[in-house]
Amino acid sequence: MKAINLFNHWVELGKDDGMEVNHSPSVNHMLGLIPEKMLESKFSFLDIGCGNGWVVQKINSFKNCIRSVGVDGAEKMIKKAILKDKKSEYLVLDINKIKDYHETFDIVFSMEVLYYLNNPQKTINYIFNNLLNKNGIFLMGIDHYLENKESLSWAQDLNVHMHTYSISQWEMILEDAGFSDISCFQFGKQKDWAGTLILSGTKL
Ligand SMILES: C[S@@+](CC[C@H](N)C(=O)[O-])C[C@H]1O[C@@H](n2cnc3c(N)ncnc32)[C@H](O)[C@@H]1O
Repeated sequence: MKAINLFNHWVELGKDDGMEVNHSPSVNHMLGLIPEKMLESKFSFLDIGCGNGWVVQKINSFKNCIRSVGVDGAEKMIKKAILKDKKSEYLVLDINKIKDYHETFDIVFSMEVLYYLNNPQKTINYIFNNLLNKNGIFLMGIDHYLENKESLSWAQDLNVHMHTYSISQWEMILEDAGFSDISCFQFGKQKDWAGTLILSGTKL
């Protein structure tokens, strides 16, 4: 099944609300990595694979946010986002075709999305080269990666293709894209759960 079809179905089941609850602790940690200096001046924000828009809406309430945009391939996610949040911008977009999107941001964020894509390296290269302003930051979080054994059955369980990269492969992807000051951290480790893999990088 295509990931986009799966997530359209998840909206019908109300599972998008569950993602907000489950992803919140990791997302809050990710947002805490945004340098204070950046939040103290006007900034713009893009969420790649925004689901029902809960992060986009949250960021839009920050005092200095001048633009908060969410893109997602699942039409039902975007419909729900627009219903809930009239202030932000939402767009139905297949991220595999992101080269049709030409806007730049100070912060590009993505939670639990990049391993579904056809070519994560190509997308991250595009984010670096085309979607980020100078000194902009990229923040990504994923729960499906090689070292997180609990996540390794997901592709089969959901019948959706996923790239299963190791932590060092993801680090290399950011490095190859051209990012500087790369940081990599497993948030929320527990017994039988290796945590959300959080990576960040700056475009100098
Ligand atoms: C696990 S959900 C995460 C949603 C949101 N980031 C959150 O944390 O609640 C993955 C999201 O990625 C989107 N997605 C997956 N593949 C995509 C693609 N090729 N283009 C656009 N969106 C895609 C899905 O529609 C879904 O909303």
